[in-house]
Amino acid sequence: MPQLSGLAIIGSGSAVPPAYLDNAGLSQLVDTSDEWISTRTGIRQRHLAAPEESLCSLAAEAARRALEMAALNAIDLDLIILATSTADDLFGSASKIQAEIGATKAVAFDLTAACSGFVFGMVTAAQYIRTGAYQNVLLIGADILSRWTDWSDRRTCILFGDGAGAIVMQAAESDQFLGFELRSDGSQNDCLTLAFQPQPQPLTQGISVGQGNFQPIQMNGQEVYRFAVKKVPEVIEKALFRASLTVEQVDWLLLHQANQRILDAVAERLGIPEHKVVSNMGNYGNTDAASIPLALDQYVRSGQIQPGDVIAAAGFGAGLSWGSALFRWGR
Ligand code: UT7
Repeated sequence: MPQLSGLAIIGSGSAVPPAYLDNAGLSQLVDTSDEWISTRTGIRQRHLAAPEESLCSLAAEAARRALEMAALNAIDLDLIILATSTADDLFGSASKIQAEIGATKAVAFDLTAACSGFVFGMVTAAQYIRTGAYQNVLLIGADILSRWTDWSDRRTCILFGDGAGAIVMQAAESDQFLGFELRSDGSQNDCLTLAFQPQPQPLTQGISVGQGNFQPIQMNGQEVYRFAVKKVPEVIEKALFRASLTVEQVDWLLLHQANQRILDAVAERLGIPEHKVVSNMGNYGNTDAASIPLALDQYVRSGQIQPGDVIAAAGFGAGLSWGSALFRWGR
């Protein structure tokens, strides 16, 4: 087979846990209301994983659906990238998913870039395909943030939900991956953390180790909001410039589903009309690395996103990190 330097995004799939909590239910946990949550965020409900569910099982379900849409067998996968911040195992969960779906030929690894993880993963996958190293790549974005949420903190617990989404990317003659821009700013790391807190544990004379736990999500909501509204349009414009496309040629603005007000503000800054803005956070909340592929899959399966449509995707969040990926949907 001749080496192909282009790539196409040929399938999507998603999965969420069956149980969900609406704003009225949340109002019984913390001092909030459906009115506050829906007007400030656009979120009405979020799906939550039960204790016996795992990130791997959710991710594997999304993966199987994406493979089915792509008409590809798991055995034909060369690479699996799992974008997540909430792996079942800190050593990584991608290999377990590889085994679960029977992708025995594929190498698999985790990638952590919080809510930017899916976009960072897309760009990473694209490099492997462009160099000719791999032909068929499965990219999964999956998170179970409910396990790391402080359910007594009304400033954060209203936002998050659990889910998984996946896409299949394949080497192709005609290139559908049009441009990208990735950024990090660790000087603002404190704005959004899920950090390990070590407690000194003396072992022998003069030697101590730090043992402890990860602390629940801490966020400076206003700072993150300001950062997103300012920085996301910049990376989308940069990717458009690199692809020699204008904003009018974008069919869909597919942002990380953090807050409807952020989506609206970014769309307004870019001059993208409301009907081109992908939004499903009302039903799912902020599902971290899963939010972009979850929304993509929903719009593809409902027939709203059509083959050939130009999609401007962007993720943003902890790190701080942010990035855009510009692509055409389908073969
Ligand atoms: O995926 C990672 C990226 N994360 C994000 O993109 C999150 C970005 N930030 C946001 O989406 C918003 O900042 C929030 C939705 C988190 C908060 O909205 P806000 O409009 O920035 O609210 P605020 O923090 O300025 O709080 C306004 C008021 C405060 O009361 P006072 O001090 O004005 O009396 C809060 O105590 O609203 C209060 N408040 C609430 N009231 C009812 C905060 N949370 C709640 C709540 N219910 N859940």
